[in-house]
Amino acid sequence: MATLPGIANNPDIRFLGKLLGDVIRAYGGDTLYQRTEYIRAASVDRHRGGTDVDLGLDRLSLDETLDFVRGFMLFSMLANLAEDRQGVTAERGADLAAALERLAGEGIDKAQVMHLLDHALIAPVLTAHPTEVRRKSMIDHRNRIAALMLLRDGGASETPDGDNVEEAILRQIALLWQTRVLRRERLYVTDEVETALSYLREVFLPALPALYQRWDRALGERVPSFVRPGSWIGGDRDGNPFVTADSLTTALAKASEAVLVYYLDAVHALGAELSISTDLAPADAGVQALAEASGDTAESRSDEPYRRALSGIYARLAATHRALTGKPAPRPGALKGERYPDPQAFRADLVIIARALRQEDHQGGGALSSGGALGRLVRAVETFGFHLATLDLRQNSAVHERVVAELLKVAGVEADYLSLGESQRVSLLRHELSNARPLASPFAAYSEETQSELAILRAAAQAHATYGPACITQHIVSMAQSVSDLLELNILLKEVGLYRPGGASGEASSAAIMAVPLFETIGDLEAAPAIMTEWFALPEVRGITAARSFQEVMIGYSDSNKDGGYLTSTWSLSKASTALKSVFADAGVGMQLFHGRGGAVGRGGGSSFAAIRAQPPGTVQGRIRITEQGEVIAGKYGTRESAMTNLEAMASATLLASLEPDALSAADTARFSAAMDTLSASAFAAYRDLVYGSNGNDAGFRTFFRQMTPLAEISGLKIGSRPASRTKSDRIEDLRAIPWVFSWAQARVMLPGWYGVGQALSAFPDKGLLAEMAQGWPFFAASLANMEQVIAKSDMGIAARYAGLVEDRALADAIFPRIESGWQQTHDGLLQVTGQSRLLEAHPALDASIRLRLPYIEPLNLLQIELIKRRRAGDEDARIGEGILLSINAIATALRNSG
Ligand code: PGA
Repeated sequence: MATLPGIANNPDIRFLGKLLGDVIRAYGGDTLYQRTEYIRAASVDRHRGGTDVDLGLDRLSLDETLDFVRGFMLFSMLANLAEDRQGVTAERGADLAAALERLAGEGIDKAQVMHLLDHALIAPVLTAHPTEVRRKSMIDHRNRIAALMLLRDGGASETPDGDNVEEAILRQIALLWQTRVLRRERLYVTDEVETALSYLREVFLPALPALYQRWDRALGERVPSFVRPGSWIGGDRDGNPFVTADSLTTALAKASEAVLVYYLDAVHALGAELSISTDLAPADAGVQALAEASGDTAESRSDEPYRRALSGIYARLAATHRALTGKPAPRPGALKGERYPDPQAFRADLVIIARALRQEDHQGGGALSSGGALGRLVRAVETFGFHLATLDLRQNSAVHERVVAELLKVAGVEADYLSLGESQRVSLLRHELSNARPLASPFAAYSEETQSELAILRAAAQAHATYGPACITQHIVSMAQSVSDLLELNILLKEVGLYRPGGASGEASSAAIMAVPLFETIGDLEAAPAIMTEWFALPEVRGITAARSFQEVMIGYSDSNKDGGYLTSTWSLSKASTALKSVFADAGVGMQLFHGRGGAVGRGGGSSFAAIRAQPPGTVQGRIRITEQGEVIAGKYGTRESAMTNLEAMASATLLASLEPDALSAADTARFSAAMDTLSASAFAAYRDLVYGSNGNDAGFRTFFRQMTPLAEISGLKIGSRPASRTKSDRIEDLRAIPWVFSWAQARVMLPGWYGVGQALSAFPDKGLLAEMAQGWPFFAASLANMEQVIAKSDMGIAARYAGLVEDRALADAIFPRIESGWQQTHDGLLQVTGQSRLLEAHPALDASIRLRLPYIEPLNLLQIELIKRRRAGDEDARIGEGILLSINAIATALRNSG
């Protein structure tokens, strides 16, 4: 498309936009191109203040509407790509070297850093949470364009295959134009497993070892392997009936196969590389022994002990591949070897070779043993084992409750478990946990739910036996509200041998999979410290945690937001973390927090670097797990370069959050916390009053929300395997947080990202104190910064048009003005507290990025509203449904992080 004022400063956007314009003209026709251009230019004018400019949308036929929406969507996609390249959305200044320098400036030396890293764990955990609207084929084209742009940057005019670079880019854009945007079929869990696998295999596997090389250089010594990628896909069955024992088994098998094939290729390549001959350099005894044991008697390699040793390693790895996958290795190899019992044994062989190379270096110059392919392979084995990514299990506490109740009843232990109070439950469960005999009987007929739960846990036990215990280490209990919720899971784990009662002779109980509570409502976050205190007081738990030295607690950002609004959610998460820190310290147990956050601010989104750094003092302790979901995955881990940038940002932030002295004095902490309590209480009251009504059940608001937003239409996107609600009810409490946040974003309200904050800021008497907090308190600054982005992307003028979709005008007139005035108060309060005269004044790059997008989003919103109106008025034309879905897709793409 022709040059847009405002994007002129980003030459990539100009370049890609021009090519897209060429493609639209060539493949969509000149009329479509002209219309699109006209709307674009008119919309830009409108955003410059020409409020009465007519966009001419009503002149588009239905077919033209669909093409137009696709064109704008593709433009947004290309603009996102260009921005990612410029690092507008990347974590800036977040590299490890900068963090080390900063720490050094604060008197924290390398030894302290290394000490922390010895016990550190950083885990990005990929989940299938459905917010990625783009099909994989579209993302693949996007990535190919990104790779071609890199070639172009380097001044290349040809690709290695001889294509002209610019023509190749044009071709990819033309393919994008001709690729169907919407999914025809719903997604299955296996599709989600495949998607995660492609990131793990193509990005994490090569990127992490490469990153460690950079870190080793920055620290001047080998750093421990502390990053452990994780996944939920195939194991998270909370509200997803399609996740079964089969999905778990498939996910683990595919992951293991992928990592073993990677190792086979790497060992093969090493064999080609390490051609050292004993004629020219002696080999040490370790390598000689491996060479002898390999059974490789080929005359041509008789003077090449490294190659012979690697042939033997290859044979053992191929045998491992056969044992774990049931299939021969893709390139079977001529020698026979015994399978490796575990990744440590494989690593030990590699280390023998590395050591031998180091010996060689002692004779010479040190060129052989530092880094290199062997160093990266050792890293990979330490990081990915034979399982690739740790797979978590997750289920809702209510399901465990029912399953345990049924088992107890059928076994004749307790006829009505569900009617018992908490303390009765706890004593019954503890008694059961001390008894090694299982409850389930092969002769009894259980409900489908119970059978399915037992089956998946049996599959987990089998996986431990096959791939080793690192393949599944945690089981998350959603909606955890009590100690019995955790004990119930242990009962189920005991059924399959993953929990062992302590013996009479005094040995402690043990659990091969850790029960992890997920606290996710405001009330549950408040109760979390008491629950964990009670948990640690149980003698059997003390034994288990002593063996492991830490316990994980997961905290949920989106559900707490849906429950209590933005400010109260962020503050409750922070307070719960701080309170838990003391509980853990008293119990002498290390704390590992698992942050369940999404991409949108209403789901805890925003810069991970800032978010980790803004964690309350003492709560990170070098260990952190964070969910990575939906569109965030492609955004952060779409290419090796971006994965390296983002993983490094995570590592640096973790170091800083763990080691930096507290930014605030105790007195300021107390003052600021008291202020936050007040702010949070008024924001909570405003939010609850709007969303849930004073009687806690506001049917009017529910109707308003459902009619004003495209909530119902979103499920047609087929972006995830799981249903939108956990139950059939239409209560906001039962709606999953993702469609809640996603639909508010489409209507440009983005209510979960700010509602209630304005009222709280304006009611707070001491504005000077608020300004001080915004300046000097990372927690408050990060909360405001995230909210500022949301406010900048929301638009009450467009929102008012969505409110026009609500049939009951009196209802709309009662509710929408409250949202509008809340928004205005939030906007004004934010500027006042941050001392700005307009939004994003202090963030020019972000400001430019958002301003660029707005004129592209408004026409999409307006078209969406018209299409929804026609559809709801009974127009059955299939193109209308398609247009709505395309517009949802396009708006989500243009807004970025909308779900
Ligand atoms: P959940 O996730 O619905 O799976 O608990 C909520 C979210 O990520 O927003």
